[in-house]
Amino acid sequence: MPATVLVGAQWGDEGKGKTTDLLAPEMDLVVRYQGGNNAGHTVVHDGTTLRLHLIPSSILRPEVTPVIGNGVVIDPKTLIEEMDALAAQGISTERLLVSGNAHLIMPYHRVLDRVTERHLGRAQLGTTRRGIGPAYADKASRIGLRVQDLLDMKIFAKKLEVALKEKNAVLSRVYNQLPLDAKEIQAEYEGFAARLERHIADTSLVVWRALRDGQGILFEGAQGTLLDVDHGTYPFVTSSNPIAGGACTGAGVGPREIDRIIGVTKAYVTRVGAGPFPTEDLGPDGERMGAVGQEFGVTTGRKRRCGWFDAVLLRYAARLNSLTELHLTKLDVLSGFERVRIAVAYRHEGETYDEFPPHQSIFHKCEPVYEEMPGWREDIGGARELRDLPPACRAYVLRLEEITRVPVTVISVGPAREQTLRVEPVSVVA
Ligand code: IMP
Repeated sequence: MPATVLVGAQWGDEGKGKTTDLLAPEMDLVVRYQGGNNAGHTVVHDGTTLRLHLIPSSILRPEVTPVIGNGVVIDPKTLIEEMDALAAQGISTERLLVSGNAHLIMPYHRVLDRVTERHLGRAQLGTTRRGIGPAYADKASRIGLRVQDLLDMKIFAKKLEVALKEKNAVLSRVYNQLPLDAKEIQAEYEGFAARLERHIADTSLVVWRALRDGQGILFEGAQGTLLDVDHGTYPFVTSSNPIAGGACTGAGVGPREIDRIIGVTKAYVTRVGAGPFPTEDLGPDGERMGAVGQEFGVTTGRKRRCGWFDAVLLRYAARLNSLTELHLTKLDVLSGFERVRIAVAYRHEGETYDEFPPHQSIFHKCEPVYEEMPGWREDIGGARELRDLPPACRAYVLRLEEITRVPVTVISVGPAREQTLRVEPVSVVA
C-alpha cells in the first residue's frame, strides 16, 4: 500500500488534524516527521478538549500506531505532559514510538529562543518560544543531544557538558542571563529517560517493515509549506522542512514509497508571527474571518492574521509538494461575504508575477491582483454533499481548483467530523 503525506499548503493551521482524523481509519501508522511542540492541534474527547503539540492527531484511534520520527525535535517534558493528559482521559499512549535519532529540546534552547528574539527587537520573527530554532541549530552544528542519549546517561552527561559550556558562555556574556546548571538538567532528564525508555525505537525500520507488509502509513506534516526553512518566506519561517520531501528525511523513507500527497488549505489564508503576507486584510473582511473562524493559535493563543485566498502561493505549494489532491477547510467561514476574492497574481513595479517571485523583496512589497466572485449568504455548516452548497459557493471551489490545478477531494464546512464533504474532483483538473 502506498504511503501518504499530509502537508500544510499555506502558513500552518490549515486544519490538518481533521484530515488526519478522517484518514486514520485507513492507516496503521501515523508518523510526524518534522517540527516540535511549536505545532498544535485540538482533540475533543468525551466533551473534554485536549491541546496536543507533539503526539500525532490519530491518538484517539487505538488501532493506529503513533510515531514521532527522527526529524522532529522533542521537548520531553511536553511529551510526558501530553501522555499524562491523555492517560487522565483514559486514552492510551502505550503504542507511541519515538525515534532514537530525534533531537531533544533542552532548557537552554528555550531560554535562547526567548532572548534571541528579544535581541532582534523590531526584526523579531515571532517564534513560538519553544526552543525549536536553537534545537535545530545544534543538530546542524552537531552538538545536539538525541533521544537515544537518554538510554545512556553517561554519554548524555558528556554531551551535555560540551553543549552547556558554550551555551552558558553565550547566555551570560551575550545575553546577560544566569548560567544553567548541568546537574539539575541531568537529574531532570534522567526522570524523562525513565518514562520514555520503552517508547524509543528505530522508527525508520518500523516504517519500512510496515511498508513491506502493505500497511497504511500517513506522514503527518506540521506547520506549512510557506514556513519551510528552504522554500518558505525566509527568515520568517520555522527551522525544519514541512514540505512533502521532508517526510523522506524526517522519517527515514525513500521517495519512491510515497505516491499520495494531500495538501490542506483553508478557503482563505491565515498566518501567525511576523513576515510578508500579500493578501492580508487589515480591514473588516480580515477581522470577520478571524472572528468567525476563531483564528487564535493553539500553541501561543496569538491572534492569527487573516486574508483572502492566494492562488499564487497555492500553486507554489502544489509544485513544491507534488500535491495530488487538496483538502479545502473552513469554507463555512466565507459565508455571508457580499463578494469573495482570490489573488491570481502579484504586481510589483509595473511587472506582473503569476508565480512565486524569485526575490523576497518583491514578495514583501508586491500587491495582489484579485479576481472577485459573488459571495453566498447561506449557512453551509449542514452541507454533506457538493450539491448542498449554494451555486456561488460551488463556483468558488471550482475556480480554486481551476487556478491551482489540483483536484479538491475533501471540503470541510465546520469543525465536527461529519461536517465534511468527500467530493469527486469538481472540475476537469482530475
Ligand atoms: P518557531 O517554529 O517557533 O521557530 O517559529 C517560527 C515561525 O513559525 C513563527 O512565525 C511562528 O508563528 C510560526 N509557526 C511555528 N509553528 C507554527 C504552527 O504550527 N502554525 C503556524 N505557525 C507556526
